[in-house]
Amino acid sequence: MVKYVLTGATGQLGSRVFKNLIKLVPASDVIVSLHNPDGATPEILSSGVEVRKGDFTQPETLDGAFAGGDKLLIVSYPSIAYDIRVNSHRAAIDAAKRAGVAHVYYTSLMFAGDSQAAVMQAHLATEKYLKESGLTYTIIREGIYSESYPLYFGYWKPGRPGNEVKVPHGDGGIAWVCRDDLGEGTAKLMVSDSHKHETVLFTGSRAITLSELAGIISDVAKIEPPLQLKVVPEDEYVASNEGGEDLLRKWASTYPAVARGELAVVDPLLRQILGRDLKTFEETLNEELSISSSSDAAVQRYSK
Ligand SMILES: NC(=O)c1ccc[n+]([C@@H]2O[C@H](COP(=O)([O-])OP(=O)(O)OC[C@H]3O[C@@H](n4cnc5c(N)ncnc54)[C@H](OP(=O)(O)O)[C@@H]3O)[C@@H](O)[C@H]2O)c1
Repeated sequence: MVKYVLTGATGQLGSRVFKNLIKLVPASDVIVSLHNPDGATPEILSSGVEVRKGDFTQPETLDGAFAGGDKLLIVSYPSIAYDIRVNSHRAAIDAAKRAGVAHVYYTSLMFAGDSQAAVMQAHLATEKYLKESGLTYTIIREGIYSESYPLYFGYWKPGRPGNEVKVPHGDGGIAWVCRDDLGEGTAKLMVSDSHKHETVLFTGSRAITLSELAGIISDVAKIEPPLQLKVVPEDEYVASNEGGEDLLRKWASTYPAVARGELAVVDPLLRQILGRDLKTFEETLNEELSISSSSDAAVQRYSK
């Protein structure tokens, strides 16, 4: 019997890992570690899994949360602020070691190993810390969520006036992948007992540039005249979006990485693990556009 401990199981990715994991193993083999156990979802509460308190920012809670666990999923802390993220991840890795966890899975991001993108820096520091921890690990560089496209596409949202979408520094392909496929793949990878001491890449099956995205969104949402991607100076990008200069400057560092092709890599592993075709970007876009608030929600959720 292998005991699985999941963090982040109330979140967009973790809830999907949870949903799939309990189809693969008995609920009695699953422990959910939540920073706020009162926020456990109905799916968690009705599943029969054990719920424990485990807050990355209160390391003393993590010993109890991870005790008896054999395989632990550390879902990365939801912020692009470097310090809180790295400190949270280190606390979880240290606690996993103290608890005698046999195999740690960490959800990293698919930017390159030498990326200069701000959002990737805490992941790179965590990957290094985990590799040096002595623990058996699998680092999953999760692909860019199809659902998060507004963040990359100049904070565009349906109904926004004008047909120009401004991004700084340049365009490039992104191998978008939906959260359902990532969640299922992550659960199946955890159960498979493979890829020890490896960094794996979960991506979509096709890279789509932001210029192509302009055409796809215009077609799907019937926007006339069609949206046009415009690469503008960083200052213009910052001035034309809300969210605060600090955050926008940090986020602007994503685009040289996009232009460099860091997000255009297509890896067959996720498709192999799922044993079926992945959901296309267009399918997810259709779903997202039918939820009127989804663009705002994506920007709010991930612009922290
Ligand atoms: N691949 C991509 O394109 C992409 C996009 C955005 C983000 N990400 C990264 O991937 C992670 C998962 O994405 P997501 O969409 O599932 O994010 P999410 O929906 O914001 O979920 C984050 C999870 O972290 C939990 N959490 C918050 N504070 C915590 C703490 N102090 N200790 C322990 N857990 C805590 C949240 O619990 P509550 O629900 O109770 O707050 C939630 O379960 C994010 O956290 C982020 O690092 C990846």
